[in-house]
Amino acid sequence: MKLKVLFVTVAIVFISIFLALRPFQTLFNTPFLATGASNKFRGSELISVVGAVGPESLAFDPNGGGPYTGVSDGRILKWHGKDIGWIEFAVTSPHYLTRRNDCEGSHDPGLEHVCGRPLGLRFDEKTGNLYIADAYYGLLMVGPSGGSAVQLASHVNGNPFRFTNDLDVDHESGAVYFTDSSARFQRRQFLSTIISGDKTGRLMKYSLETKQVTVLLHGLSLPNGITLSKDGSFLLISETTACRILRFWLRTSKAGTTEVFSQLPGFPDNIRRSPSGDFWVALHSKRGKILEWILSISLVGDALVRLLPINIEQFYSYLVRWRGNDAMALRLSEEGEVLEVLEDIGGKVLRFVSEVVEINGSLWIGSVVMPFVGFFKL
Ligand SMILES: *[C@@H]1O[C@H](CO)[C@@H](O)[C@H](O)[C@H]1NC(C)=O
Repeated sequence: MKLKVLFVTVAIVFISIFLALRPFQTLFNTPFLATGASNKFRGSELISVVGAVGPESLAFDPNGGGPYTGVSDGRILKWHGKDIGWIEFAVTSPHYLTRRNDCEGSHDPGLEHVCGRPLGLRFDEKTGNLYIADAYYGLLMVGPSGGSAVQLASHVNGNPFRFTNDLDVDHESGAVYFTDSSARFQRRQFLSTIISGDKTGRLMKYSLETKQVTVLLHGLSLPNGITLSKDGSFLLISETTACRILRFWLRTSKAGTTEVFSQLPGFPDNIRRSPSGDFWVALHSKRGKILEWILSISLVGDALVRLLPINIEQFYSYLVRWRGNDAMALRLSEEGEVLEVLEDIGGKVLRFVSEVVEINGSLWIGSVVMPFVGFFKL
């Protein structure tokens, strides 16, 4: 009897993950937005990251140098142009001093808690200090010449962060806003966080002045990317599992309140403000109907995660290598309207876009999975 239940459970998961990865149009008859912009992303140039994979977030220093990016082996690399390539800039884990041989070049999620896994990156425009959200080591900072990053915060009210993901810095008030995606799962269990419908993520604030951490929002469904608006009056937060962007007001009469800013056709990862004040949202993948159903009944997803005799994360990575995935990013206005859609259906050139940053009329495109950074001229 128990075997039968397991078999059915495994079958459901196989089917749902398979369907979740199918091109969006085959599941829904109308495309998300008929812009004629489909597959524009295929015009991207790829810049290989040698040695490691997964350049998740991209940041430029106050002089426009970079990008800087955190990769799978725990290092933060800086791009010095085609002639020189990528050079190590910083590390987040204190173990790098003694475990460099094990860490350098690692793609193994099982080593992330030792080597570190830097995700969101942001420079302080005035000082040139780089702020880092590391999935395992919390909130860190490193000076303009790099090296070993200093940990700023790793706990709130005595409880450790579990899956620090992204951050933004308010240079005027000295506040660092950041997300902790789950109080239950770590980054290497990313897919379990989604399938179980986990709602233990938090939005927090670290004060550079008082060094105190405060929880601003809790009960979020995998809060991921975060960005301040141009005037600093609100924050946008990607709520990955809910496939939406939330707006958290910091100023105006609405201060302290939250509203849904935009509902999306897939799972949003990082979100970055463009020079004009719009927002680029990277979608990790689109969502399929069966996965939607699993997510709507959280007990089912939670049971799947508890019962499955397979490693979901590993299974998923095999499936993706075989099946491919659509790449997608959206540009949203300050009111949450979709202004532009960039896609690569079937992931011929780009896949698993984790961040899109606009600088000097071009987009730089990160991916938490792939071994390259994309470059796209607007
Ligand atoms: C952007 O433009 C500025 C000014 O021309 C230049 O200094 C900087 O290197 C450029 N950065 C990138 C990443 O293109």
